Amino acid sequence: MVDYLQKKRIVIKLSGSIFSLSDTHVQDSNNYYNIFKQYSDVLINLTSNVQLIVITGGGSIARLYIKFARKLGLDEASLDLLGIAISRVNAKLLIASLGNYAYPEIPQSLDEVSRFMESNKIIVSGGLHPGQSTNATSALIAEKTRASEFINATDVNGIYDSDPRKNNDAQLFEKIELGKLLTLLLKESSMAGEYDLLDIIALKVIERSKIRTKVILANPNNLSNAIQGRNYIGTEVLP
Ligand code: UTP
Repeated sequence: MVDYLQKKRIVIKLSGSIFSLSDTHVQDSNNYYNIFKQYSDVLINLTSNVQLIVITGGGSIARLYIKFARKLGLDEASLDLLGIAISRVNAKLLIASLGNYAYPEIPQSLDEVSRFMESNKIIVSGGLHPGQSTNATSALIAEKTRASEFINATDVNGIYDSDPRKNNDAQLFEKIELGKLLTLLLKESSMAGEYDLLDIIALKVIERSKIRTKVILANPNNLSNAIQGRNYIGTEVLP
């Protein structure tokens, strides 16, 4: 295996939507098991040449718990910590699925991400700091680890000129300049549980460190293609 210092590093954000539990998953746990196994297979197949750092989102479970806890009176910072805790549950499950290929611990800070990388294993992280999203955390991790690329695997085909879940006429960008994207996203919400696609913190980090970024449709095949520089469904952000 190539030494970790010689390997190029790719940071991958896996949308929390991938890990969202549905009734089908509860009725037949094989469906849920397969999601983890399919993503793990992609990551394991590529890890001998590339150092992979994967960040798992919190998904609908995080949003649901945040909604309940807000109603119960919890402050926004504590709600963020709740979201981070859920994203770390997803990280734990992915670590379990990757077995010996993954570093067994979840980093609690950017410094720990760097330290864990010396293991030459796949690092899996959840969120790190309140007040942001796992997208911002992923951009910061890409910056800190000097990753050659940041791949954000999400539940839509890429970046549109408006929210495709709300607008049927939304247009998908194949490439988009960062400045344009910043203008598009300035209208974003910053309440706990509501950070979308790429938030302002993520974009500012991508901008200042000129991180190559792809926002792609999350499915194992598409992820594998994007990591290997093949054609993929998604949008390239030009920093
Ligand atoms: P996510 O950012 O993962 O939300 O964290 P998500 O909706 O699942 O995003 P996608 O779908 O993966 O893109 C859930 C919540 O946890 C808190 C925030 O409140 C966030 O909305 N969080 C997460 C933080 O405060 N800091 C972090 O580093 C990560």
